[in-house]
Amino acid sequence: MPAHVCQCMTDRISEILAQYPGGRREVLIPILQAVQESFGFLPEAAMHAIGAHLSLPPAKIYGVATFYNQFRLQPVGKHTIRVCRGTACHVRGSKLLLDALADELGIQPGETTPDGQFTLETVACLGACSIAPVVMIDDQFYGAAQPRDVGKLLKPYRDDSTEKA
Ligand code: FES
Repeated sequence: MPAHVCQCMTDRISEILAQYPGGRREVLIPILQAVQESFGFLPEAAMHAIGAHLSLPPAKIYGVATFYNQFRLQPVGKHTIRVCRGTACHVRGSKLLLDALADELGIQPGETTPDGQFTLETVACLGACSIAPVVMIDDQFYGAAQPRDVGKLLKPYRDDSTEKA
């Protein structure tokens, strides 16, 4: 069991596991869904506990969890940044935009900043190709976004007391 796991997390994981019969592998996906619903992601502690409950090695649990893109292995940040990597956005420089955001935040796509503020993701198309390249922060679209603008884009989300642009 990983270190630094709080009691409330282990209690909640135990509660979830108690609802599913031990040793039956077909309940793996429903358990993963229930854990993610509770925590917003799949904590490492849960992966170990599920493995013990179903008599499966943690590597098998990780294998299943990473196969399905509905599952997250990291907590989601307070704000989710989605950079479109579809064709229209790609030809207008979305890779440079993604790199600039990753540099600015110090994380890679799929990761969350250590302070829990931002999660960086890529998507296949945001359905707004005419304003490519597009970034979406939470539910807000930003079109024709340029790498040099990323500091300005993030600023309102860094200080929640400031009105969003
Ligand atoms: S390709 Fe980016 S919005 Fe469609």
